[in-house]
Amino acid sequence: MKIIRTIPEFKKEILEIKQANQTIGFVPTMGFLHEGHAALMQQARKEVDYLVASIFVNPLQFGENEDFDSYPKDEVHDQALASANGVDLLFIPTVTEMYPRAMGITMDVNERIGVLCDRSRPGHFQGVLTVVSKLFHLVEPDFAYFGTKDAQQVAIIELLIANLSFNITLRMVPTVRERDGLAKSSRNVNLSVAERQEARHLYQALKRGEAKIIDGEKNPDKIMRVVRKHLEQSLSARIDYVEVLAFPELMEVALINQPIIIAVAVHFTQARLIDNIIIDVH
Ligand code: PAJ
Repeated sequence: MKIIRTIPEFKKEILEIKQANQTIGFVPTMGFLHEGHAALMQQARKEVDYLVASIFVNPLQFGENEDFDSYPKDEVHDQALASANGVDLLFIPTVTEMYPRAMGITMDVNERIGVLCDRSRPGHFQGVLTVVSKLFHLVEPDFAYFGTKDAQQVAIIELLIANLSFNITLRMVPTVRERDGLAKSSRNVNLSVAERQEARHLYQALKRGEAKIIDGEKNPDKIMRVVRKHLEQSLSARIDYVEVLAFPELMEVALINQPIIIAVAVHFTQARLIDNIIIDVH
């Protein structure tokens, strides 16, 4: 596995791969890699000739009171995980390499926004779009891999690729979970022992909502109520949102008769956790 930290060297490498007519897969990450990231790499490995991953904690997507400075890091572990999962080229730029001067142009988004995480993290998705667009231009991948764990992110990336005609096929990869159902996340290390115990209830609450839908419940409000009640009864965390929306459009629905997402976000003392279930209702 090659590790490259500068844009000129990276571009040179990509040019060689393109000239050799190899297909490129891309897994963008912020590091502190876990089995969720590994699942994206494993799926990519099966589909492409050459696998690129990036590690970059993107300041543009963090709000002022968020955890940019304390975002967990472990480059040695990350390199081992990427290499073990078949990454050919790991791009690890610094902030000044990616943003040598203030960005005079940033990305804006008008759809699939105003709901879910955008409400409590204004500007976050604009920051994600800016960095992902920049990375897409540098990597020029044939396939890009994103987890549905970050459902609003993947929905917005789908729009980005379609609206701006990126020549990239998006692959959505299902959420990898701990044994008790907690979605793997780099931020789980910020949970106290007691909070970690409670955190399994995010998935349990979602499963309750899913069970109701499978039973035939069509009213989104009733699903939200069931999920919220379970969270309120089992968590000390503050609930940020419980929402049921069409997926990937992220529009409110009057009746559940199309693919939908049940999504939740909660604030523990040092960590904000999100989780969701996407249900393919027809
Ligand atoms: P990060 O949080 O490191 O996540 C990188 C990718 O891994 C995302 O596509 C995310 O959805 C996926 N992922 C995270 N946890 C997962 C899990 N438990 N199961 C499956 N996939 C999982 O998302 C970002 O970084 C950034 O916003 C980024 C896209 C890199 C732009 O800065």
